[in-house]
Amino acid sequence: MYIFAIPYLRNMKKILLQTLKGEKTDRPPVWLMRQAGRILPQYRALRSSLSGFKELVETPDLAAEVTIQPVDELGVDAAIIFSDILVIPEALGLPYEMIKGKGPYFPRTITSRKDIERLQAHPDHISDQLRYVSDALKLVRSRLEPGKTLIGFGGAPWTLLAYMIEGEGSKTFSKARRFLVQEEQAAHLLLEKITKATITYFQAQVSAGAEVIQLFDSWAGLLSPQLYQKFGLPYIKQILESVDVPTIFFGKGAFYALEEMKNLPCDALGIDWNMRPSVVRQTLGGEYIVQGNLDPASLYGRIDQIEKETRSMIEAFGGHHIVNLGHGVYPDTPLDGVKAFVRAAQSYSYNR
Ligand code: CP3
Repeated sequence: MYIFAIPYLRNMKKILLQTLKGEKTDRPPVWLMRQAGRILPQYRALRSSLSGFKELVETPDLAAEVTIQPVDELGVDAAIIFSDILVIPEALGLPYEMIKGKGPYFPRTITSRKDIERLQAHPDHISDQLRYVSDALKLVRSRLEPGKTLIGFGGAPWTLLAYMIEGEGSKTFSKARRFLVQEEQAAHLLLEKITKATITYFQAQVSAGAEVIQLFDSWAGLLSPQLYQKFGLPYIKQILESVDVPTIFFGKGAFYALEEMKNLPCDALGIDWNMRPSVVRQTLGGEYIVQGNLDPASLYGRIDQIEKETRSMIEAFGGHHIVNLGHGVYPDTPLDGVKAFVRAAQSYSYNR
């Protein structure tokens, strides 16, 4: 029996990959940004038994377990590897800490061109430093149910530069933006190093089993169209061009650059919840593959409201659509709300 069953399972269609290839499916695929983590009681239990976030990220067996938890608990169509965008600054030579109740913190930051020159972007060094991510991906790939897709990810160069200069989260990232304005050449050198390291990192993720790569530009919304043109898009383009599997680019707040993002060499664009699906479709056209964009706060609503809003979003995008939120799920989101969102997408039929 098994001899016949195994090849069948291996060939089982993966709805996320089908959608990313532009194929028509009966329903849209669904997953959530930040699905692995604090919304799940299983995650909180495991996390509280450890020294901290970094132990979880750097222990492949545990990272793999936490990556698979949302697939088991929520039934989403994809797993996203449990890691963080800040592992690239660390591999380059700028270690991060994750401070409880505060978020990321860099004890050392970039203050001059000298600091940038010291960063190590050599491919052997980067793949060596980030072997724990490759090891975790291999474990997930061997354990993931058929039909589910494994997503790898990283941060876009501007967003990583922002943390490396600022040293922590900020409302304005004005130190980082000041650096772009006052230290243009040094900023380009830093962006080049981040780009080079990220290209190596994505190649390693794909070799280890990542089937899709998502690039997060979480702070794209802080730049002007001119600065994004100069310091954002060219590096994003280089990275996306180098990836051999389907890619999703998510430029949070970059509605001002939707035309430019349309021309990026990616397979799909992530859309945040500030954009109307109809406007997105007018700019991108009906066939462009989009991901998003329910307001994460909608999941605080009543179950029937969540189902209704999810269905109307699916209708508004009208196909070639990956159901997701407009940004990461908030840690205090009720699990029943998350489940209603996933169920609403998976029970939807394009053929009715
Ligand atoms: O999506 C997933 O489920 C996979 C895991 C994942 C994490 N971080 C784990 C995490 C992903 C994809 C990220 C990406 C990430 N990290 C981004 C881009 C996406 C976005 O939200 O815009 C950014 C900007 C970061 C940087 C970061 N890491 C911040 C600002 C914080 C603190 C705020 C927060 O959300 O907690 C983190 C910490 C972090 N990364 C946690 C998790 C599960 C919480 C750590 C804990 O367990 O306490």
